[in-house]
Amino acid sequence: MDTFLGFPKDTTIIVTGAASGIGEALAKLAARQGLAVAAWDLTEDGARATAEAIAGEGGTARAYGLDVSDRSQVEAAMAQTCADLGPVHCLAAVAGPPSFKIADFDEGLSQSISCMRMPTEAWIASGPAGVASAVYLSSVQGPRYGAGVQWYSVAKSAIDGYMRSVAGMRQGGLRANAVLPDWIVTPRTSEFVEATGGTEWDVNPMGRVGLPEDVANAAMFLLSPAAAYLNGLSIEVDGGARLRSLAWMRMAEASGSAA
Ligand SMILES: NC(=O)c1ccc[n+]([C@@H]2O[C@H](COP(=O)([O-])OP(=O)(O)OC[C@H]3O[C@@H](n4cnc5c(N)ncnc54)[C@H](O)[C@@H]3O)[C@@H](O)[C@H]2O)c1
Repeated sequence: MDTFLGFPKDTTIIVTGAASGIGEALAKLAARQGLAVAAWDLTEDGARATAEAIAGEGGTARAYGLDVSDRSQVEAAMAQTCADLGPVHCLAAVAGPPSFKIADFDEGLSQSISCMRMPTEAWIASGPAGVASAVYLSSVQGPRYGAGVQWYSVAKSAIDGYMRSVAGMRQGGLRANAVLPDWIVTPRTSEFVEATGGTEWDVNPMGRVGLPEDVANAAMFLLSPAAAYLNGLSIEVDGGARLRSLAWMRMAEASGSAA
C-alpha cells in the first residue's frame, strides 16, 4: 500500500479545538491516517464526542477538557496526555478565540497568542522526537485584509511570526508551518456565510466556500513526513479567492474580453 504521508506507526498528535469545525475535522483525519489523537478543547463534552467518533471508526483518541491559553491547565493536560498515549510527536494548534466574541484589543491579542504559545511550550518541554512537527491556525485576515476585527488581524499576523520562531528553533529538530484559511464554513462562521446568500462564493475560482476538510487536508500534509523539507511556511487555503473580485469580473465582461 502506498502510504504517501509516511507517518510512522505509533505517532501521536495533540489537536487543540478538536470539538468543532477545523480542529474536529483534523482530529478525525489524523486518526484515519493511523495517529493516536489527544483531543483538547474548552468543551470537554465536545472533545469526548470527537474521541468517541474516532473510536467508533476503530481509531485511538482521548479527550481532555481545558483552556489552552492557561499555562497550568496546559501543563496538567500535557502530563496526562503523555501518561495516556506516550510521547507526543505532533501538535496542531487550532483553537483560538472568535473575532466577534471579544471587544477588547489587548484581551483578544493575548488570548490568541496564548492559545498557540502555551501548548507549544508544553509540547517542546516534553521533548518531541520522531516526526516532531507543528501546524498553526492563522488566517488570511493576517497578511491580506484590512477590514474586519482589528485585534484578530494583528493576532493572526503574530501567529505567523510565532510559527517562524518555532520553525527556526532547533536545527535538524522540529518543523513548524501555518495554514491561513479564508472563509471556512464551521459552527463559528455559518451564520455569516449564510448571510451573504452565496454571492461571494460564486466569485471564488472554486465556485464554493471552504470546508473544514479543505484546511484539515493541508494541515495534515504539512505535519507529515511527506513535507519533511517544508518549514516555516504560511500556506493560504482559500481556493484562490484573492485572484478574483466581482468588480474586475464585471469590467472584463463589459469590455468583451472575459475569458
Ligand atoms: N472558520 C473560518 O472561516 C476560519 C478562517 C481562518 C482561520 N480560522 C481559525 O481556525 C481556528 C478554528 O476555527 P473554527 O472555525 O473551526 O472554530 P470553531 O468555533 O468551530 O471551533 C473552535 C474550537 O476551539 C475551541 N476553543 C476555543 N478557545 C479555546 C481555548 N482557549 N481552549 C480550548 N479550546 C478552545 C472551541 O471550544 C471550539 O471547539 C481558529 O483559530 C480560527 O481563528 C477559522
